[in-house]
Amino acid sequence: MKKRITNLCFCLGLLALGSGCNSGNTSGRAASGDGLDSLIASELAFAAGQALLLDSQCPDTLFPRTFEQDSVRCSRSGWWTTGFFPGELWYLYEASGDDLFRNRARARTAALTSEQYNRNDHDLGFKLYNSFGNGLRLTGDSSYTPVLLQGATSLLTRFHPSVGLIMSWNPNPGRGWDYPVIIDNMMNLELLFWASRASGNPVYAERAIAHADKTLANHFREDNSSYHVVSYDSITGQPQAKETAQGYSNASAWARGQAWGLYGYTMAYRETGFARYLEQATRIADFILQNPNLPEDKVPYWDFDTPDSLKVYRDVSAAAITCSALIELSRYVAGEQQQFYLDSAVQILRSLAAAPYRAEKGENGGFLLKHSVGSIPHGSEVDVPLSYADYYFVESLLRLKRLRAGEEVVKQ
Ligand code: GLY
Repeated sequence: MKKRITNLCFCLGLLALGSGCNSGNTSGRAASGDGLDSLIASELAFAAGQALLLDSQCPDTLFPRTFEQDSVRCSRSGWWTTGFFPGELWYLYEASGDDLFRNRARARTAALTSEQYNRNDHDLGFKLYNSFGNGLRLTGDSSYTPVLLQGATSLLTRFHPSVGLIMSWNPNPGRGWDYPVIIDNMMNLELLFWASRASGNPVYAERAIAHADKTLANHFREDNSSYHVVSYDSITGQPQAKETAQGYSNASAWARGQAWGLYGYTMAYRETGFARYLEQATRIADFILQNPNLPEDKVPYWDFDTPDSLKVYRDVSAAAITCSALIELSRYVAGEQQQFYLDSAVQILRSLAAAPYRAEKGENGGFLLKHSVGSIPHGSEVDVPLSYADYYFVESLLRLKRLRAGEEVVKQ
């Protein structure tokens, strides 16, 4: 594997080119008069108040998932989103230094401990890296390391060498899916890259790279949009079906899937330094940002190919994931491209921080953002708050804050 890219070493490269890490204007280093620093500060303060409200809505053994019919819906640890609220609490501890958030994050992280042994789906990265991973980063608590390593080992049990990918969901005979892999799975690779660094065992990263490469080969269309699900023949390892589960159609570009791909390949570039991942990330960013169906406020409809007659629901979660990814991606490119990605991220952030997307203090059950979509085809979580929208919104605030302070955007 090539040398890992860090924001710092990239910044040094830019400095050598006479450009500089925070070249550009208002969205780089703090510029007076753009109001962005005070927006970041006020949104983080708002998030802190809301998170304490949300924290009071589910017992420590359960996890806030969404807010429907005037009540917070909590889930058990096995649901794929359970790492996001503990992760949000860790971010708020990072932002405030307040021990209250550290203690609440620690309690909610502890409730995910058993997930390290869960081999039933691929979402261990979401569950464990956002919770235990952020906790380890911020506290250095060495008891978190074996949990993360066991989680990475459990995740690798879903990697079958005959296919060369991590199986996302279990086989689904009803859909004819022998070995389904979803674009979302790119996100779980971050745990594997971390595991190789922490353990010195290259196998985790090697399998993450195999997964990212085969996804690159088979998940993308000519226009750089991605399929949601590619199912493989478990014996030959060849793609058998390219379909959707949560998008509008098999041929459409499900908005959150594009966001997962963007974030996933940006992260994979950070971890490997492979140009092919950076190129893919920029191609996805351009698909999203130059898409004629992206509304002016840059908060996408739930699917980029939603027909006009069905253009009702936005997906704020897709916007928040895209925002955070673009802030990072902007550090790996230069010039106008850097400015375009950063300006787009700031525009998304400003959209999300205002009506109709941002909740008012004390409402929304304690969630920060409204108007996300879980899965329209399943009739599940339509136009509601979702814990992952909030997580990536807070992550975006922190990333932008660091960037404007001249710090590395991604802390590891
Ligand atoms: N990873 C599942 C989803 O994005 O809905």
